[in-house]
Amino acid sequence: MTSTWSAPGRVNLIGEHVDYNDGLVLPFALPMTTTARVTLTSSGNVTVCSADVDQPVTFAVDVEPGDVTGWSAYVAGVVWALNDLISQTGEADDARPGGIRGLEVEIRSDVPVGAGLSSSAALECSVACALNDALELRLDRPTIASVARRAENDFVGVPTGAMDQLASMLCQEGYALLLDCRTMETRQVSFDPGHADLTLLVIDTHAGHELSGSEYGDRRKACEAAAARLGLGSLRDADPDQVASLDDPVLQRRARHVVTEIERVHEVVSVLDAGRVQDIGGFLTASHESLRDDFEVSVEELDVAVDAALAAGALGARMTGAGFGGCVIALCRNADVGEVEASVRAAYDQRDWVAPSIWPTTPAQGAAPAL
Ligand code: GLA
Repeated sequence: MTSTWSAPGRVNLIGEHVDYNDGLVLPFALPMTTTARVTLTSSGNVTVCSADVDQPVTFAVDVEPGDVTGWSAYVAGVVWALNDLISQTGEADDARPGGIRGLEVEIRSDVPVGAGLSSSAALECSVACALNDALELRLDRPTIASVARRAENDFVGVPTGAMDQLASMLCQEGYALLLDCRTMETRQVSFDPGHADLTLLVIDTHAGHELSGSEYGDRRKACEAAAARLGLGSLRDADPDQVASLDDPVLQRRARHVVTEIERVHEVVSVLDAGRVQDIGGFLTASHESLRDDFEVSVEELDVAVDAALAAGALGARMTGAGFGGCVIALCRNADVGEVEASVRAAYDQRDWVAPSIWPTTPAQGAAPAL
């Protein structure tokens, strides 16, 4: 039995570093996808090969955290998390031989790696979907997303929130996904910049992005500490007065970002619901300023791209994803796209930085069967 599925990377329109604070996020799927072709075998092993890597990687089907490192750990993590789920639900008994006995996995992808566009979630979700299909597990999409997230959190060991895998599984073409990370409720919010003669540019700065570095975990811990000092379960419940009462200036800044960012998601959603996509720019830029000044996850390459885009007439611009490098998004009038691109390129050129990659994007579909 062979099954092939694709799953996309994502851009987060707004709602950054709030998913692990029970907050609201608004990502959409990119047209760039990772495709996994999975063939069931009975070899006892999983062999993974990728068009981008010379040597296939092989590991045992009963792989455990720590056994596999590097890019194939994301695949191994899905196998591990799915094995665990199957054993808990008793799916793999003799009457219904649904367990993983051996696999061949072929990966191809056009999601840029290390750019903050969730290439790892795309990889995890494509493998999880293909396995769900091949093994006839009939898991629903949120469950597949949680298998993929377990791979990331508990196998690879990166303590990310729920956004990326749910975006890859649940996004729909033409819409951003409003996800309440407390209740896990979702709503599709129409996002069609082209309808208003606008373009959303993605600017990949090519600046280093290492999510497994300590900064991401540090921010999470700071948020938890701020919530604990306020006697709250999470910063979702904090109000601005409570934030102002925090006497540690760093915790106060971190918490202020979270509280104001969740409010900006509400604002952007109501503006989009009112059909006024041209009016979201100010919220995007305010989000960037908050991530730069209060949450302190921006870097110079991101700030320069945002400033150069705004100077050339972009209606709003912000870093997207975890930060410390990666991508900026800029909302521009169609007539200004050339000038915004030129302005960002010139700013990079002046500093002798590697030229950014810049492309227009629109919301694409979530995970789907592929050829
Ligand atoms: C990464 C994580 C997400 C989220 C973002 C920041 O993409 O995987 O869970 O925390 O950073 O918004």
